[in-house]
Amino acid sequence: MADFDKLGHLYDETFRLPWRRHLEVPTVLDLLGDLTQTSVLDLGSGSGWYCTTLVGQGAQRVVGLDVSSGMVEYARRHHSHPRIDYLLGDLPAELHGHFGTVLSVHVFGYATTREHLDGLFRTAAGALRPGGRLLALGLHPDHHDHPDFYAPYGFRIHPPQTRSDGSQATLEIRFNHHDAALPLTYWSHETLATSLRSAGFAELTNPDYHLDEHGPQVLGTEFWHDYLAKPHAIILDCRLATPE
Ligand SMILES: C[S@@+](CC[C@H](N)C(=O)[O-])C[C@H]1O[C@@H](n2cnc3c(N)ncnc32)[C@H](O)[C@@H]1O
Repeated sequence: MADFDKLGHLYDETFRLPWRRHLEVPTVLDLLGDLTQTSVLDLGSGSGWYCTTLVGQGAQRVVGLDVSSGMVEYARRHHSHPRIDYLLGDLPAELHGHFGTVLSVHVFGYATTREHLDGLFRTAAGALRPGGRLLALGLHPDHHDHPDFYAPYGFRIHPPQTRSDGSQATLEIRFNHHDAALPLTYWSHETLATSLRSAGFAELTNPDYHLDEHGPQVLGTEFWHDYLAKPHAIILDCRLATPE
């Protein structure tokens, strides 16, 4: 898997990129809606940026779970809050069935095998109360083929040789003084849906992105046209099926 241990600062700074700031984050927060009565698990919490933002949106409690010790250390140092706990590794048994919402942003593309992908979605399902919601973003099965297509947004996607499950793309992130290349795994629409269903999820939808009011003002509407037509990350929105 990609080594995230030293990438806390880089990931924190990606939230300054217009694509995250004016498009991804407003879309995610609007989709999550009112969080005031909700405990949220941020699965693959990285730098912790979303965790503090979710608390800012009123979430009752937020747990950031990550498999990278460097990311968890970074998050504890830079995004701490009394209502946030950052945990490394597996979700402890006492938190199973605890959450109303699981958010998982740019994580499932780092599952390198079908077993890992199923395991990630099972962790999300196991964390939720019946009827709870998972919002997951990750490599879009229909992302654009040309590596430079996303360059204006601060990154490049070198697509996999074939669009088949488990094949490897590369995400190149280059902005300011940052320069990193991370392997990303391709998962098809069908496999994502099957994996989610087998973890217990239903009602799968793929909401669209929308810009906040500042995006067009700051960069003009033309700047956003390409990304909105071919986003590099799909949004998976689904609910844990309630027992009959
Ligand atoms: C690309 S970063 C995204 C971080 C953050 N969600 C964001 O949006 O900036 C992916 C993160 O997912 C973590 N990760 C990958 N697989 C994971 C898994 N199975 N369980 C928990 N965290 C995972 C990585 O360690 C890394 O910190």
